[in-house]
Amino acid sequence: MENNILQLIYLIASITFILGLKFLGNPASARKGNLIAAFGMGLAIFGTIFLYKNPETDMHLQHTGFIFAALAIGTLLGFIAAKKVQMTAMPEMVSLFNGMGGACAMLISIIEFQHLGNTLTNPILSTLVINPDFSAALSGKLMIIIAGMVIGSVSFSGSMIAWGKLSGKVKDKSLGRQQFINIGLLLVILAFSYLVIAGDGANTSLFFYLVLALSLLYGVLFVLPIGGADMPVVISLLNSFTGVAAAFGGFLYDNKVMLVGGILVGSAGTLLTIVMCKAMNRSLLNVLIGNFGGGSKGEAAGTSTFEGSIKEVTASDAAILMRYAKKVIIVPGYGLAVAQAQHIVHDLELLLEEEGVEVKYAIHPVAGRMPGHMNVLLAESNVSYDKLLEMEEINPEFASTDVVLVVGANDVVNPAAKTDPSSPIYGMPILDVENASNVIVNKRSMKAGYAGIENELFYKPKTSMLFGDAKKALTELVNEIKALG
Ligand code: TAP
Repeated sequence: MENNILQLIYLIASITFILGLKFLGNPASARKGNLIAAFGMGLAIFGTIFLYKNPETDMHLQHTGFIFAALAIGTLLGFIAAKKVQMTAMPEMVSLFNGMGGACAMLISIIEFQHLGNTLTNPILSTLVINPDFSAALSGKLMIIIAGMVIGSVSFSGSMIAWGKLSGKVKDKSLGRQQFINIGLLLVILAFSYLVIAGDGANTSLFFYLVLALSLLYGVLFVLPIGGADMPVVISLLNSFTGVAAAFGGFLYDNKVMLVGGILVGSAGTLLTIVMCKAMNRSLLNVLIGNFGGGSKGEAAGTSTFEGSIKEVTASDAAILMRYAKKVIIVPGYGLAVAQAQHIVHDLELLLEEEGVEVKYAIHPVAGRMPGHMNVLLAESNVSYDKLLEMEEINPEFASTDVVLVVGANDVVNPAAKTDPSSPIYGMPILDVENASNVIVNKRSMKAGYAGIENELFYKPKTSMLFGDAKKALTELVNEIKALG
């Protein structure tokens, strides 16, 4: 009876995960989606604690005091981290949390391996090993344990390096011929894994822990040479690894909700990785070995090779241009997040609308540093969702727009993506802001963005630069518009 209720709980939890993912697909319902899936996860956890019975011993979970203590500590740490994290540090936090998921999968495998070892040293059970059915089942279980451990360990150590890189603690490093070293290491891991699963039983523990150590090393070497700025793509990939590792845990325990959750995370992470690569017009292989964007963050763009010159605009001139425009499109980018200018940009929008100006936002799929970065940021300041237009939707509208205000965006409005085949971003779909009558670009300097390249848009006759930190510059702009009455 208890088991039937538990299976029903698992079914309900699995459905909440799917519904949660569905709701997460839209900014308006994302918060609800997160809560629904979290509710399902809570249900599955407490259902397991109170209703699960070990089929071998017919006993409920033991040491529940420790389990609740761990839950309380984890909940507190998660709560504090989520409250304190800055929007720009979200990728770091996702990476850290993802690493914890990988570590869980790794620990589950280690514990289950030891559990299996205890079974085999049991004088009665060990005699069963000569039974071919039992032997095959044992190899099958070992295979799942090893697969979960290898993928979980790679995800754990890889995510820790990704976290270190994003927070500036770890620098990009390549050992030279890194791909060959990595492939060699992978082959050694596979060979030792084979010995654990199908060997003659001698030194199994030694081989097992060697696989563990080498997998952790592989995670480090896999992520270390990848360009620091490519980390969001890598994190998404590692996230899918963690999902797959958790799914192996589901196999191991014959736990349906763990299996469904793992598969959903694994496939969602894979899809997201593909979508991000597509939006940047790069292959996954190029991200993994191309080192694009590595160390380019904030570097000077070098001497300009473009015709034309930089034209500066003052806040008061920009205010006049926007106040008397019919239609304004705001293009938010990474700099908006850095400056935490989401509230002031919303104030600007409301002010312009009061004056009868039509205002919309153009959202590029990879603006910022993580999927949905701009949506989340603008939602925080209560910008209405129907004002956020995706790239395909907004691009035809630029031609009928009087002023485009680019705030802390660079690569996503760089025409080189369309015109310069030698550019690293060539082929990346961009926002066609240059079709508008006037373009005002706010950034602090002429430094490059993520891709580390110059932007011809800044030199075009219809473009003017409003230099300064986004929050400060937009506050001035708002004050100037107010002063116009
Ligand atoms: P970027 O091209 O990175 O440009 C951001 C610009 O913001 C910089 O040029 C910087 O110039 C400016 N900035 C920084 N701090 C500022 C501040 N406080 N006030 C005003 N401006 C500031 O950003 P983007 O256009 O949003 O493009 C995103 C890039 O990230 C793309 O290349 C994309 O491929 C990449 N990427 C995105 C993702 C996802 S999923 N979003 C994942 C991986 C990679 P100054 O230093 O001169 O101010």
